Amino acid sequence: MTRLFIFCGFIAFIGQPVSRSCPIQLSPPRVVVRYGDPVFVNCTSSVTQPEGMGWESSYGGTGLKEHATSVSWEVESLKDWEIAPKCFINLQDDTQCIEELPVTVYKMPDSVSLSQSSEMGPILEGTEHRMQCDIIDVAPVKNLSVIWYKEDEIIHTESDDIVIASPVNLSFVYNLRPQRGDNGTFIWCSAKLDFGPSGPNLPATLSKSREIIVLYPPAFIQPETETVNLSAGNKIILNCTAVGNPMPAYSWQSPNPTLQKMENEAVVTPSLQLPGTYTCTASNAYGSTTKLFIITETPRNRTALAAIVGVFVALGVLLFIGGIVFGTKEGTFSFSKGGYIRGQSTAPGPV
Ligand SMILES: *[C@@H]1O[C@H](CO)[C@@H](O)[C@H](O)[C@H]1NC(C)=O
Ligand SMILES: *[C@@H]1O[C@H](CO)[C@@H](O)[C@H](O)[C@H]1NC(C)=O
Ligand SMILES: *[C@@H]1O[C@H](CO)[C@@H](O)[C@H](O)[C@H]1NC(C)=O
Ligand SMILES: *[C@@H]1O[C@H](CO)[C@@H](O)[C@H](O)[C@H]1NC(C)=O
Repeated sequence: MTRLFIFCGFIAFIGQPVSRSCPIQLSPPRVVVRYGDPVFVNCTSSVTQPEGMGWESSYGGTGLKEHATSVSWEVESLKDWEIAPKCFINLQDDTQCIEELPVTVYKMPDSVSLSQSSEMGPILEGTEHRMQCDIIDVAPVKNLSVIWYKEDEIIHTESDDIVIASPVNLSFVYNLRPQRGDNGTFIWCSAKLDFGPSGPNLPATLSKSREIIVLYPPAFIQPETETVNLSAGNKIILNCTAVGNPMPAYSWQSPNPTLQKMENEAVVTPSLQLPGTYTCTASNAYGSTTKLFIITETPRNRTALAAIVGVFVALGVLLFIGGIVFGTKEGTFSFSKGGYIRGQSTAPGPV
């Protein structure tokens, strides 16, 4: 081991220093290639008469090609995750210059799935639920990002910075804390290899989506206490509708329980309309909530009396106005009974 280390150090020491401006050009300057695909890269000299050039590589190496000004690295099917080919040029002054070609070998995942390990039953609102995205056989990890979606919205993005060139299996965890509005929505994860603008644009691999069922205690659509006026002839409708999962059950209490039993419905129209406070409770296994309906009564007799008085006052006013109108408009609008003479300004009103 020690000897190997010394040996390596020796190689590094005697190796020619890489010139800052190596007179060669790689075309393309870097490659991103799918495992098993062909690859072809030119290495061209910018000096006219080099001693020679060549590619040094575990696959597709060319050896020294004397007096060449261009050499190509060509592999029909690239099956090496960590390949690092180098193009070298030997110049006339006996110096050597080497340039390494950056190669990224990738493999799309075999599958992306939401983990089956935690069985996905309904989730209680506000509690945390661990979701796992399993990605099988993908490379390279450093270029992989995992995106979590709720419907079409991105809820979380993650990547791993471990540097492993060969394919691995990965699991990403996301802790979902659903709210009631999330009930019935779908969640999934996707894995995408991203090589920047100059690399290939690969499609993301999506997991199957999973519906989230959120359990939550009931809440009223209209939570305020309601005051209802019992006026003559009106039927009162008491609406206690609440939303909860599972659907809430309702129980009512009338102002006079011995006199009146109530149905267990969300909306009731009491047959007997008693003044006082009706109480409604909506509940399910996760909680309950109560709403009040205050029924006030306008005394009926006084209403009737007021109405009669009102009618009389109104009638009187009408007659009074009528008198003025008919008296000043020269009889034009009078109840023209035959005996009246048109044009008479002094005609009295029809009292
Ligand atoms: C490589 O070089 C050859 C000859 O110079 C040229 O015909 C070919 O198009 C080049 N290929 C690439 C990929 O640059
Ligand atoms: C990845 O998972 C697959 C399927 O579960 C398994 O066959 C394979 O051996 C795993 N690979 C590694 C590198 O663990
Ligand atoms: C919750 O979602 C399920 C499935 O979509 C649906 O059947 C149910 O009515 C929803 N419940 C509520 C209270 O929104
Ligand atoms: C992805 O790959 C490209 C090409 O190999 C590299 O330049 C880039 O830095 C990588 N991106 C990330 C986020 O690692």
